[in-house]
Amino acid sequence: MSTPKRYLITAALPYANGLKHIGHLAGAYLPADVYNRFLKAQLKEVVFVCGSDEHGTAIPIQAKKEGTTAQAIIDKYHPIIEQNFRTLGIEFDIYHRTSSELHHTTAQEFFTKLHTDGKLITKTTEQYFDEEANTFLADRYIQGTCPNCGYEHAYGDQCEKCGTSLSPELLINPVSTLSGKTPIKKETSHWYLPLNEHEAFLQDWILNTHGADWRANVVGQCKSWIDGGLQPRAVTRDLDWGVQVPVKDAVGKVLYVWFDAPIGYISATKQWALNTGKDWQPYWNDADTQLVHFIGKDNIVFHAIIFPVMLKLHGNILPSFVTSNEFMNLEGDKMSTSRNWKLEMEDYINDFVNKENGGAAMADALRYYLTAIAPETKDSEFTWKGFQDAVNNELVAVFGNYVNRTFVLMHKLCKGKVPPLHTAVLTDADEQFIQAIAQTTQKVTSLLEQFKFRDAQFEVIDLARKGNKYMQEKEPWIVAKTLAENPAAQQVIDNCLHLCLQSCANLAILINPFLPHTAKQMLYMMKVVEKMLEWKNAGTIRLLKVGYSLREPQLLFRKIDDEEITYQIQKLHAMSEAAKAASTPPPAEEQAPNYAPVKPEIVFDDFAKIDLRVGTIVAAEKVKKADKLLQLTVDMGFETRTIVSGIALHFTPEQVVGQQVTVVTNLAPRTMRGIESAGMILMAENADGTLVFVQPAQATAAGSTVS
Ligand code: MF3
Ligand code: ZN
Repeated sequence: MSTPKRYLITAALPYANGLKHIGHLAGAYLPADVYNRFLKAQLKEVVFVCGSDEHGTAIPIQAKKEGTTAQAIIDKYHPIIEQNFRTLGIEFDIYHRTSSELHHTTAQEFFTKLHTDGKLITKTTEQYFDEEANTFLADRYIQGTCPNCGYEHAYGDQCEKCGTSLSPELLINPVSTLSGKTPIKKETSHWYLPLNEHEAFLQDWILNTHGADWRANVVGQCKSWIDGGLQPRAVTRDLDWGVQVPVKDAVGKVLYVWFDAPIGYISATKQWALNTGKDWQPYWNDADTQLVHFIGKDNIVFHAIIFPVMLKLHGNILPSFVTSNEFMNLEGDKMSTSRNWKLEMEDYINDFVNKENGGAAMADALRYYLTAIAPETKDSEFTWKGFQDAVNNELVAVFGNYVNRTFVLMHKLCKGKVPPLHTAVLTDADEQFIQAIAQTTQKVTSLLEQFKFRDAQFEVIDLARKGNKYMQEKEPWIVAKTLAENPAAQQVIDNCLHLCLQSCANLAILINPFLPHTAKQMLYMMKVVEKMLEWKNAGTIRLLKVGYSLREPQLLFRKIDDEEITYQIQKLHAMSEAAKAASTPPPAEEQAPNYAPVKPEIVFDDFAKIDLRVGTIVAAEKVKKADKLLQLTVDMGFETRTIVSGIALHFTPEQVVGQQVTVVTNLAPRTMRGIESAGMILMAENADGTLVFVQPAQATAAGSTVS
């Protein structure tokens, strides 16, 4: 594609049914914001749209939970979510809502055009209907027994126990959650998007046109969908919450949420145009627009297959890029709202950002860590220790320290002014540093153009690292001691600080897309206006004027203490425990007995061959690249052993250290992930899959036999 005339960046519209966590932030909104700021710094014509997805069953279900109305739910969460994003520096040009009238009419017009152009088909099928509530049942309103694992409270679209995707017909003993009654089957007609008719187009467009320039996770998911054969998809639902189907007699029918929500990008663009007096049309109709979608992994097929077909049939442009991350885990487990294993933006903001003294910089600290561990090609993991290390060792010790030293020395050795550059006495080290500034700029630019945010940010920090090294080699503070006998040495000092200051100005430009608050602080210290942050200024050493006086340094970041992260880890565990206690498990008598069958009989001699002993776990750590494994060091009394145990999804290393356990001591050693495991730890497993150690009821000497 030649250089686009304009850009439209979208970030997936989050459901306004609850607070959003940092997994959401890292998955779509932060990379979208970095890209947006990068383009805006190049003075490109860019619009960055987002907003609340306020339809779908997620909203009325949350309303039921909170004992209120769907309208009250969206009115409650929409403004909080927007504010959280903005506090963390996500600079949308508009944060719209799909409940707005403009959106309803836009979505209806879109549907009507496809309908009247004959692009949709209708089908009549049998669907579950609740006679008492007098309504058809959305998948989420039906519960029953999972055909895969036997869990009795599986939903019509998914079993939350085993994760299998279901459809309501597959549930055994389906029950309506509205009335508690068994639903009946009743005929209903709906409109469908015949995806099967567009298979050849999708094949060609995704695999041939974009197979090489889109990320492998996006192309891979699309390919397996297409290979599996595309089916017509219903785009309407029998539901009373959503955008009315604009067809006479289609009473009680609304557009399917995944049909109306992406059209929300268009209505958001329209509202932005109304607010700013601009024209929205070219953003969706002119081939010179580059449309870029930033989304989470679970949204891929909607943005790369279904919405593009809708856009094509409607006569709009297609996305140039669909960019999705993999998942970010948290402290050893998948982030989950239902299990309360998450860090909400709101919580982070309250604990770190809404504080005096450096609070605002903490928004950047989170942005920094989330980009540094962005799951661009594979899942990654947020740990509080990792956060602390990234902030203390990189932001504080490298970037902040470099900027601070430069300003302190400039005040001390150059009278608080930008010293001149004496080109006659430039050394190799000076020249190399000048080159590093230019090269870093090129690298960061090219990486950002390829959506490699993680590597791009690394390069920026690396320039500060090079600056520290350069200053350390030049040692202007030592040179200053020779000034009395050799006044010409001032030129060496001037050159060093001139280049360090120019590099700081470059750092402000390059870090700005990632850490906008930090960039502003640096502008303040340099007494320059925001215009300096224009991307074209980067890469040169002509940013600060010789003789210009600069402010005293300010610390850009603060360190994170051990107590802060210990508190967060405890809080995380406490919150998830509370969620466990609150989720009322079904009464015992309702639960299908789920005992494993008894194994064939053995004789005493068989049993006597097993050497069981008590051991004490004295150390534990996670096994790299193996989600489920913990490497344990176990004191067996007579010796210490390494045992690899598949319990990492159930226990953190901290939870197991100090536990007494029963060990099968004479099991032949096994090597797992390159670690030899000498023995096995006995665990009892509850029907719900939770594990407990089989351990002596009282403290027992390590090495004691069990029989
Ligand atoms: N609300 C959806 C989710 O959170 C995302 C909708 S993206 C849109 O998964 F394109 F449909 F808007
Ligand atoms: Zn199941």
